[in-house]
Parts: sequence; C-alpha cells; structure tokens
Amino acid sequence: MTDHPKIQELHEKRAIGRLGGGQARIDAQHDKGRLTARERIDLLLDKGSFREIDAFVEHRTTDFGLDSKKFTGDSVVTGWGTIDNRLVYVFSQDFTVLGGSLGEVHAEKIVKIQDMAQKNGAPIIGLNDSGGARIQEGVISLGGYADIFLRNTLASGVIPQISAIMGPCAGGAVYSPALTDLIFMVRDSSYMFVTGPEVVKTVTQEDVSFEELGGASVHSETSGVCHVAADSEADTLYLIRKVLSYLPQNNMEDPPYKPTRDNPLRREEALDTIIPDDPSKPYDIKDVIQLVVDDGEFYEIHENFAANIVIGFAHLGGHSIGIIANQPAVLAGVLDIDASEKAGRFVRLCDAFNIPILTLEDVPGFMPGTAQEHGGIIRSGAKLLYAYCEATVPKLTVITRKAYGGAYDVMSSKHIRGDVNLAWPSAEIAVMGPEGAVNIVFRKELAEADDPVAQKDKLVAEYRAKFANPYVAASRGFIDDIIEPRETRPRLINALEMLSNKRDSNPAKKHGNIPL
Ligand code: HXC
Repeated sequence: MTDHPKIQELHEKRAIGRLGGGQARIDAQHDKGRLTARERIDLLLDKGSFREIDAFVEHRTTDFGLDSKKFTGDSVVTGWGTIDNRLVYVFSQDFTVLGGSLGEVHAEKIVKIQDMAQKNGAPIIGLNDSGGARIQEGVISLGGYADIFLRNTLASGVIPQISAIMGPCAGGAVYSPALTDLIFMVRDSSYMFVTGPEVVKTVTQEDVSFEELGGASVHSETSGVCHVAADSEADTLYLIRKVLSYLPQNNMEDPPYKPTRDNPLRREEALDTIIPDDPSKPYDIKDVIQLVVDDGEFYEIHENFAANIVIGFAHLGGHSIGIIANQPAVLAGVLDIDASEKAGRFVRLCDAFNIPILTLEDVPGFMPGTAQEHGGIIRSGAKLLYAYCEATVPKLTVITRKAYGGAYDVMSSKHIRGDVNLAWPSAEIAVMGPEGAVNIVFRKELAEADDPVAQKDKLVAEYRAKFANPYVAASRGFIDDIIEPRETRPRLINALEMLSNKRDSNPAKKHGNIPL
C-alpha cells in the first residue's frame, strides 16, 4: 500500500531536512573525522528516543543571496529524548548547513528548547559545531546569541546544562558553553576562542595555530575552560551520558540512587598504611578515593588542570557525592589560584544540585609568592571559602594528614558548617607546619642557642608532639571523631545516611556577592 500523496510529501520533506547541507557536505564532515549533528544525537541518546521538533524551520534572510540558500530545519537540530531512560533536551549544530552558523531561526530553535528544558525541569545538552554568528544576518545573529546567554544564566542552578564542543566554537559563541555547568571537548578536533589566530596575529603579532590557541589540551590543562577532554566524539558523548548519572534532573530533585553490591561496611586495611611515615613524603589521594567509594569508580573532572586538587563524582552506598580532595602528590596539595577556582566552582555545582560533598583534606596551606599574590590568590581563595560557607548540602570532611592555616578553615571545616568532620590519627591540625612555626615563635631563642640545629630539632619535635596531631582539635569539638583509616567507608556512608534529611538554608537575599 502506498502512502497518501500528502503523507508522501511529508516523508520527502523530512528526508530533505535529514540531509542538512547535502551529501557532499556530510562527506566533507566525515572526511574531517567528524560526525554529523544527527549522528551525534543518535550516539548520545537512548536508541530511538529522539523526538525532533522544528525540523521544517527555514531562515527568512534575503541579504547576500541567502534567499537562494535555504535548508529545511536550518543549521541546528533540536528536540528531546532520553539518556538511561531519563528525559533530556538537546540541540546539535549542523556544520553542513552554512557552517553551523547561528542566525535568527537557529537561535529561536535553541531558545525554544532551553525554555522547554527549564519549564519541564530536565537537563539540556548542547552539541556545538559552528562558525559562530551568521555573518549575513548581522546584528540579528548577535541578538540571537544574547537570547541564548540570558536563558543559560536563568537556568543556571535550576537544570544541569552541559556543553560539548565538537568542532569550531569561535567568537562570542564560546560564552553560551562558558555559562553552562560542564564543558566537554574532543581532542585534536575541537577548539574554542574569543578571537581566532588571524585576529591574534594582527593585534599581538603572535603566530599561533587553532590547536595551540584553543584546542582541547589548552583548555583542559592550562585555561581550565574545559572540564573533560576525550579522545573521540563517541567517547565524549559516552562521558556526557555517564556524568548525568550523578546529577538530578533539576534543583528540586535529589540525584538518582545507584544500587551497588559493594559492601557499605567494607573496611580497607590498606588505608591504615597509605600515609607515609615521613610527613613530607607524598602519596596519591586518588588511591584513597578509589578504596573508599562504591566499586572504586571515580568520575574525575578537570583531571589535568590544577592537579594539586582533585574533584569529581562518585557514589557512596549508592548515593551520588561530589569529592574535593587535596592532592599531596602534586605541589604537596597546596591551594593556589587555579585549584581554588576549580574547587570553588565544583562546590557550587554540587550545592546547586543537592549533591553531598566529601572533602578529603591534606593541605599545607595557600601557595606563597608574588605570582600568586599579584594574580589575586586572595580573591580566588575567597571564592572557595565563600562556596564552602554558603553550601547547605551535607558536607563530610576527612582530614588525612595536614590541615594547616587558613586552608584548615576553608576546606569544609566545622566552623563553616561541615556536618561530620573526621580525622585520621595521622592528621596534623595547626596554624602552620612544625618547621615554620618554630622558626617564627623561637626566632630569638634559636639565634642565641649554642647549637641552633640541635635546639631546632628539639623544638620541632616538641611542637609536633603538642600540635601536629588531631587531638587538640578534637578536644575542642572541631573534629567530631578520630577514626582508623580502614573505617573510612563505613563511617562516611553512615554519616551520609544520618544526613539524608538535612535541612539548612541561608538568609533570604536577592543573591550573595561571591568575590568573582
Ligand atoms: C556564515 C559561515 C560562517 C559564518 C562558516 N560559514 N562560518 N557562514 N557565517 N560565521 C560558512 C562558510 O562560508 C562555508 O560556506 C561553510 O560555512 C563552511 O566553512 P569553511 O570555512 O569552508 O569551513 P572550514 O574550513 O572547516 O572552517 C571553519 C571555520 C571558518 C574555522 C569555522 O568557517 C571560519 O573561520 N568561519 C568564521 C568564524 C568567525 O569568525 N565567526 C564569527 C565569530 S564572531 P561555503 O558555502 O562557502 O562552503 C561571533 C560573534 C558572536 O560569533 C557574538 C555573540 C556575543
């Protein structure tokens, strides 16, 4: 039986729309090693779940001969579908149509999906691959971007917003992704910059390639703009699917519970000996994380940026948690500008989406030096402090070793509403390390001593015995308990469950004034 001619017409029109800019441009996209907008959606969503809307939209521009270059659906594919059976909204820019450039109707399609996502309380994922503002449409394109930016901002903290950069992302177009919660990039195939290499050459005389200026390596290691860099488009889309398993649909819900066979009472003897006897020796905090969380599975974010602090998601007893951990294996775990900003933003992401925060603390303090001071470590450190102070989700802290100085206060201390603060017996909680403390407090005595070295060793030993331990803090109630390291997992799961009905809030206000 053949379809009614009107139904045939519908099929034909759909088929034209599905071809985007045509087979030759699809082939060109594949030749660059890239997938098309629709192929990406197919990989991202549960099989067969995509429902496209606005497939028949066409641009209305006549300038520069564009009236003869119309494409059914224009240069972006939009709709909704599911990931692990949970609703998500998606837009995917189609580079085969006018270079994925964003004109009036392209923006309208994205805006419609943004509005639906926010109204219906589900995550939105943007797959970006575009030459930026459609030059022929001029200021109308710029207006379209601004319409998107506004919605990104209003939806911030309401629904998870995730951006994947799958190709070029140039000019002001980078600011929509930058306003979202997480940015994913494909290595060697995607780039982001405000001004391209040619403009850079004109203004600063620098010769720089696309990759050097704004490739995935630069943004995932140096600038920190990119949260996760993956080796292929398929990996990128898989990692987006996975990250959603830690996030709720919106800020009114809790993250999904993930049943596990990992015993909540599992004790790990290896933790008892993980801290080296010499307090100046490093160890890898990721080993601690792996031994504590469900099935050893840790979803790390910003892996290669500010590696002196580690952040990411995991499950504990089936509950989604965000982990912030000083990394003694990199720069002794010191807090510097990048580490503070990296962790501060992550604390806010977790707090916005009801994800409890686990802080693993081993921090010698803030990084000294003119580079850091002049770079504004006061402001950056304050961001992290502010983020922890305002967070009302359950906050668990384990001090594994050093908790010195201001960093002790900042890293989710009891004083700033840490809910359950534990320490290992190896913890050293003090204003500063023994060497520094002795040099300052006993400066005169050391200068006058017959044998300054022996005298210093003696004073350091005394200081260490007196202050470099968790008992002084515990005697004040600044630490709720001192635990055997092997007990860490069961104690944290117990604490999380104890806090499952936690209610806390901040004073009513328009919004705070985080030190930006
Ligand atoms: C209209 C565009 C376009 C654009 C690309 N095309 N960008 N059309 N507006 N912004 C078209 C090209 O003319 C070409 O059409 C087709 O898309 C494919 O582009 P190519 O250049 O052949 O592809 P490629 O060699 O892969 O280069 C991709 C590119 C390059 C690096 C993205 O196209 C490029 O530099 N485009 C301009 C980027 C840019 O400066 N955009 C404006 C940024 S300012 P034909 O038919 O010839 O094949 C901005 C402001 C936003 O975005 C402000 C928000 C606040």
